[in-house]
Amino acid sequence: MKTTERRISTSVLVIGTGGSGLRAAIELAEQGVDVLALGKRPRMDAHTSLAAGGINAALGTMDEADTWQQHAADTIKESYFLANPHTVEIVARGAAQGIADLERYGTAFAREDDGRISQRFFGAHTYRRTAFAGDYTGLEIQRALVDRAARLDVPILDSVYVTRILVRDGAVFGAYGFDLTDGTRYLIHADAVILAAGGHNRIWRRTSSRRDENTGDSFRLAVEAGARLRDPELVQFHPSGILEPENAAGTLISEAARGEGGLLRNALGERFMERYDPERMELSTRDRVALAAYTEIKEGRGTAKGGVWLDVSHLPRETIMSRLPRVYQTMLELQMRDITAEPIEIAPTAHYSMGGVWVRPEDHSTEVDGLYAIGEASSGLHGANRLGGNSLVELLVFGRIVGRAAAAYSAGLESQRRSHDAEDRARAEVTDLLAADGPENVRTLQRAVRDTMTEHAGVVRDEAGLTTGLAELDEIAGRAEHVGVHPDLAGFQDLAHAFDLKSSLIAARATLEAAVERRETRGCHNRSDFPHLDPELQVNLVWSPAGGVVREPIPPVSREIAALIQEVSTVGKLAE
Ligand code: FUM
Repeated sequence: MKTTERRISTSVLVIGTGGSGLRAAIELAEQGVDVLALGKRPRMDAHTSLAAGGINAALGTMDEADTWQQHAADTIKESYFLANPHTVEIVARGAAQGIADLERYGTAFAREDDGRISQRFFGAHTYRRTAFAGDYTGLEIQRALVDRAARLDVPILDSVYVTRILVRDGAVFGAYGFDLTDGTRYLIHADAVILAAGGHNRIWRRTSSRRDENTGDSFRLAVEAGARLRDPELVQFHPSGILEPENAAGTLISEAARGEGGLLRNALGERFMERYDPERMELSTRDRVALAAYTEIKEGRGTAKGGVWLDVSHLPRETIMSRLPRVYQTMLELQMRDITAEPIEIAPTAHYSMGGVWVRPEDHSTEVDGLYAIGEASSGLHGANRLGGNSLVELLVFGRIVGRAAAAYSAGLESQRRSHDAEDRARAEVTDLLAADGPENVRTLQRAVRDTMTEHAGVVRDEAGLTTGLAELDEIAGRAEHVGVHPDLAGFQDLAHAFDLKSSLIAARATLEAAVERRETRGCHNRSDFPHLDPELQVNLVWSPAGGVVREPIPPVSREIAALIQEVSTVGKLAE
């Protein structure tokens, strides 16, 4: 087969066309900087389009007393003090500007009769702070960003799979990849690279991500470029993923359902949150609601299929249609179930990577010169428990900041690096995989990784399980040496799956190794063998393949924000 390779040069390359990648690309284009964005699925279908319930900013439209400082305080408290206070302050302060940018791009937020942006409660917020567009908030934001990028003529190639970030002497100079449809190779030279390719929650069996997204691409690309990962073990399990059908298991039922008044019940009909957080009930934090649902199921009070019930059928039909239209449609489409009349069967689902690539708080630069990470690929904001609605605002705030930082970095360069060796290695990696004709099937091995992570690194973990998980990963990695890769007339998806498998293996190893080291229970990370929070572990865990896990201290919270943080109670945490 003849290989065609296209060569492209740009000032800043953005990998990922979800909200964070597009927001950064828009900033660059608005600054007059040459930018190219690459995606591996159609831009309107990027994962951001699945984000449902809302975006946070202390606008005070519903509750005047809200402030950015209280938003920061809530975020830090609910992170179990693992969030970087500097990152949190940047996001909370910049959130209103993020919303203003979206309004400028044409995002249609839900509004009150007098024109104010509506804001609703999401779990564990002190005030109503979550702006929304029904439960299609991410889709509406993505639409506005795609539209704005088009108006600015931002070039987007959305069928290119990136296999390598190109590095010379600790500095990036581009990326390598291939076209998913016809296999054309891409050698892209760039001064700076912004990694916006999501997280790793698809390496669990039940997940709110679709098949080919969030397989850990960002983690592998960053690590192979020389960057490190922070807190990969901190994965948010959202309480409400559907159970059926099997191929859509984990699909999200937005927290908006609870925010609008949905009730949780076990198979005995009990509102079980009374046992875990009687004050906040269904509006407790995600880690607690997920653990509560897990515990009810594990202790035999779940449904026959292994779930609990989320019921919105008592809400006015009008509320469901205007505020939860996606949940309504999803349940009809996937289960032919009418949620205005029947409850929804749910269980925890792997939803969000709260850790990610190690970045500096101020500009999300990494330890590799010219490489930035953003959105779910990055780390620092969420700690051990993310507040719902904070991820969408993060990408708006840091999209702007990182776009500017990458522009300045590019402008500051006096020469452009290249390395033929690095390019040749990237080429050879693709060529070798295309020639691979071993007996192992890539999809089967991906399933094996997901089974391992589900069995040993789910909502509740322990040392024995995590260690077994690592041994299983070794075995899967050994088998992955003997895969067969078979692109066909339909396209090069099989090659993409082979790279996804490499990514998942790295992401899974980082997760398990860090989870072993975090010998405590904190937020999403429940260790049945260490059921208490350990003050010594109020640190970030930073992982690299060569260095393993090292502890990183977290800067102190400013007095102003600390004064707004109330006591974090651990009542209702690990019930085992
Ligand atoms: O439940 C949700 O709508 C999810 C929101 C989020 O993860 O921020």
